[in-house]
Amino acid sequence: MISNVRLSLLSFLIILYSCGSNQEVNFIASTTEQFRPEYHFTPEKGWMNDPNGMFYLDGEYHLFYQYYPDSTVWGPMHWGHSISKDLVNWEELPIAIYPDSLGYIFSGSAVYDQENTSGLGTSDSPPIVAIFTYHNMVGEKSGATDFQSQGIAFSLDKGRTWTKFEGNPVLPNQGIRDFRDPKVLEIKKTDGTKRWNMTLAAQDRIQFFESADLKNWEFTGDFGQGIGAHGGVWECPDLLPFTAPNGDQKWVLLVSINPGGPQKGSATQYFIGEFENGTFTPDDTMIRWLDYGPDNYAGVTWSNLPQEETRTLFIGWMSNWLYGQVVPTPTWRSAMTLARELSLFDINGTLLLKSAPVKELESFRGDEIAFNEKSNLPSQAVELFIELDGSDAFSLVLSNELGEKVSISKEMGLVSIDRTNAGEATFHPDFAAMHSAPMSWKAEDLRIFLDASSIELFANNGELVMTSLLFPSSPWKTVELTNGIKNASIFNLKK
Ligand code: FRU
Repeated sequence: MISNVRLSLLSFLIILYSCGSNQEVNFIASTTEQFRPEYHFTPEKGWMNDPNGMFYLDGEYHLFYQYYPDSTVWGPMHWGHSISKDLVNWEELPIAIYPDSLGYIFSGSAVYDQENTSGLGTSDSPPIVAIFTYHNMVGEKSGATDFQSQGIAFSLDKGRTWTKFEGNPVLPNQGIRDFRDPKVLEIKKTDGTKRWNMTLAAQDRIQFFESADLKNWEFTGDFGQGIGAHGGVWECPDLLPFTAPNGDQKWVLLVSINPGGPQKGSATQYFIGEFENGTFTPDDTMIRWLDYGPDNYAGVTWSNLPQEETRTLFIGWMSNWLYGQVVPTPTWRSAMTLARELSLFDINGTLLLKSAPVKELESFRGDEIAFNEKSNLPSQAVELFIELDGSDAFSLVLSNELGEKVSISKEMGLVSIDRTNAGEATFHPDFAAMHSAPMSWKAEDLRIFLDASSIELFANNGELVMTSLLFPSSPWKTVELTNGIKNASIFNLKK
């Protein structure tokens, strides 16, 4: 698989390590590529944050992202671009959208305007339209509040090149400092007409706008003031239709928040309810989190999936604003999470959102290595599939020869990943921590995906998810299944 394996060994850092009482000395080579994931998308170089503008067309999943090519910290935002045929192997393409005199290009979405409602293409060659936020630095520095507005750009060549609409901005600021991250979806109204719906984050709420042509937008309603988690600014929303297990039609509203997440820093909450007449009404005011780990932020879903595709496909930024700019990856910063399939499930009458790893990952499973209480890991790119014994408590430990370890467990209804002694952590005081998540129902099985610098834990195939970065000084060597486990398989993920 896996286009991100790069051969460039730019430099060698030799770490001297004194081991054990016999003072045996090991040399561990680490390189600038040490923490480069093998099957998660990372840009070859530079800074990346939120996934943007994801759409599918003609066999290609497009992934754009907040990108600054000239540094490994956040800066003037572009939209970087990569494509995949299987949601696992990613090919990085040239930068898609550059900042201009109206500002940096912040997060947003893209739609296939098949009927050319925007007039930006032709009926024979309909445009892909990207809708993004312009962030004007001059305005911000001058102390103005209206420095964020929405602009559009279009592509007539499957996302390879983009032209900005000359009438930008299409949605000027309305006096709100944080006014950003448009996610557009075509919605059929009750009278049968189709409209583009924009879901936009506006500081402490979500605003909805409607348009017939992607250029003229009308406000239809807002949601969220005083409801849900408000420990930070609201960002990167997404509005998704689902069928609940009982057949009811439901809408899920994803809202990322920074700070104020359950593990400190940034995280994504969601609401379940109705979307009617251009506004959202939640079924309840319960706070729900999409992923209880510290490192899944600003995730949104793909548009324009083929008609026969019934899945809702999601990807997130696998980092956290708390320390994302100081993690020890010297030539690039950040990876995306695995692509995930979202669906609703019901636990004792409460609806929750499940995130399962996409089924495409199964075809990358190499040889199955049988389970032992203590097994060696074949590589740093592995999936562990673990059947639990029904006792609803478990523990397993990953470790390396340096004594670094990660413990994964469930005890008294709390699922935890403990990375307090899991390798490099000096870059930020909050990184070395134990993270826990409530799971009041029984954990039946676990899927655990390990890569060079991450762990993704899916209990009951995604009824509870925890995504966590890890920077072991040397790759994880063994997995020890200490408690609550009936059966386990280890799959080396093929390259
Ligand atoms: C979320 C975010 C967005 C914004 C982008 C800027 O991580 O702050 O709200 O559009 O990053 O890069």
